[in-house]
Amino acid sequence: MPAPRFITFEGIDGSGKSTQARALAARLGDAGTEVVLTREPGGSPGAEDIRQLLLTGDPGRWSAETEILLFTAARRDHLEKTIEPALLAGQTVVSDRFADSTRVYQGATRGDLRATVDRLHALMIGREPDVTFIIDMDPAKALKRGLARKSGEDRFEDFGLPFQETLRHGFLTLARAHDRCIVIDGDRASEQVATEIAARLDALS
Ligand code: ADP
Ligand code: TYD
Repeated sequence: MPAPRFITFEGIDGSGKSTQARALAARLGDAGTEVVLTREPGGSPGAEDIRQLLLTGDPGRWSAETEILLFTAARRDHLEKTIEPALLAGQTVVSDRFADSTRVYQGATRGDLRATVDRLHALMIGREPDVTFIIDMDPAKALKRGLARKSGEDRFEDFGLPFQETLRHGFLTLARAHDRCIVIDGDRASEQVATEIAARLDALS
């Protein structure tokens, strides 16, 4: 099988996705692979502007429906300007979050909006990663890690622990439905987590 070239990281806030995305990109780069490390929301100048609208301010600032539109607008720009050009140029893309985040954060937390998310995805994005690592861990521990960062982009962390529990359940349910998803235990030293991810990726090619 050809090596996966579009790799995403998903999970609840503070689970260690960004740390692991960085570690994997560095590892692949050291091995001579051309890698683009990117993130959502964001990853292109226009999408980074939309990120600010989404992640700052009052938790009740946007309805779930409006969020779906904004995240999808950001993703479309990210896809057009960053992801597709990189894949076309033969590079590997490692993205810290992608469409699974919308499926879970907007699709499964405030009413069942999953059908709306899926329709908009089919219409405007229509692309899935080759492999998705879902970093799983206890939300109480993850929330402590995340809030310790104090990034100023805490709108979703500010929804609190029950919200994060719902998200965890949502990601695990999603993983069971898609063969491309690999669940990784994130409650270990980051080097240990990174070693397992590299091994699972190697096993795919
Ligand atoms: P996410 O992107 O999932 O929100 P980050 O990678 O930004 O998570 O990690 C959140 C915080 O937890 C950071 O301060 C990071 O240094 C720390 N962290 C990440 N992975 C681990 C780990 N395995 N053990 C302990 N702390 C970690
Ligand atoms: P991120 O910067 O990855 O935050 P963290 O490091 O805390 O995990 O993502 C920002 C927030 O945006 C995060 O709380 C999840 C949320 N989000 C959605 O609600 N829907 C989406 O489609 C995406 C990509 C992110």
